[in-house]
Amino acid sequence: MNVLILNGPNLNLLGKREPDIYGHETLADIENAIRHRAFDKGVGTDFLQTNHEGVMLDRIHEARGRFDAIIINPAAWSHTSVALLDALKAFEGRVIEVHLSNVHTREAFRHHSYVSARAEAVIAGMGSFGYLAAIDFLAR
Ligand code: DQA
Repeated sequence: MNVLILNGPNLNLLGKREPDIYGHETLADIENAIRHRAFDKGVGTDFLQTNHEGVMLDRIHEARGRFDAIIINPAAWSHTSVALLDALKAFEGRVIEVHLSNVHTREAFRHHSYVSARAEAVIAGMGSFGYLAAIDFLAR
């Protein structure tokens, strides 16, 4: 099984950005932990973080037929992007949505995610462990 792990805007600043909310690990730390967990489970991985919505959409289009699943933290685009929802609808594989923080205990504008309508499962509030839980779930 091949899984594409996508991270949206500002997540390149993990470790520096609002660490009380998002933790002290960098995105590289998190991607390494995912890589190890996936290797243990016999799952192949590829990664993209981008601050550019069109780059994210293009990567999802390219994933069609090439990946069995996408794990995505859409970050702020969760709450704004119908285009991201539509791109994920065009992808035939499984989709898991991950948020580091529990978006439901935060500002009201974070309570709705367009992406959730396409996601098989939504993980929020487990910190970086959420990505590992998503790998385990897909590999079950
Ligand atoms: C986030 C939550 C979003 O509301 C926010 O815009 C992010 C990160 C999370 O992982 O908790 O950038 O997706």
